[in-house]
Amino acid sequence: MSLRLGDTAPNFTAKTSEGEINFYDYVGDSWVVLFSHPADYTPVCTTELGKTASLKQEFEKRNVKVIALSVDSVESHKGWIKDINETQDVEVNFPIIADESREVSMAYDMIHPNASETFTVRSLFIIDPDKKVKLMITYPASTGRNFQEILRVIDSLQLTANYSVATPADWKAGEEVVVAPAIKTEDIAAKFPKGFREIKPYLRMTPQPNL
Ligand code: BEZ
Repeated sequence: MSLRLGDTAPNFTAKTSEGEINFYDYVGDSWVVLFSHPADYTPVCTTELGKTASLKQEFEKRNVKVIALSVDSVESHKGWIKDINETQDVEVNFPIIADESREVSMAYDMIHPNASETFTVRSLFIIDPDKKVKLMITYPASTGRNFQEILRVIDSLQLTANYSVATPADWKAGEEVVVAPAIKTEDIAAKFPKGFREIKPYLRMTPQPNL
């Protein structure tokens, strides 16, 4: 059965461009972005991994580790990383899993046979420090992902893990958030000392509480 939100992310031990990794050991107390791409030495994937490397500080600031995956070999990954570094003006600073056996791809349902029998699609998982799956997205091979959106979702997940709020459409860190429906309007003032706006009884906005 495929993974669903809230499920425990499967553990695995795999060869990577940075040596053998046990996934849970790698996660430790961090959040993780685990993402697959169809193949090494392909143009869109080259830009995606370059973009990810360039966002190192943004991921670190949020206590997020990154790990990529394709079904190519460690040797292939290592050669390709040189190209990514050269063409994207970065240093790839995260491991790339060499999932030649497709063990990890199958556990995470990253192969969608009607898209490709052999290659992984662009799956991306955000996993929290409790190893729970918090976000899953799947893009086709022809569309590179938006890594600003990944950072935005991480900001939302980390905020909503700690406060009784949710984040509205197109929300960005620093903007007003929605008070969780479970909070009674009469309890909001005590919980959210920065104040709130009631637009409708079910739509109450408050300044981002952790700023
Ligand atoms: C790419 O990464 O450029 C790519 C990979 C597979 C199919 C199409 C594009």
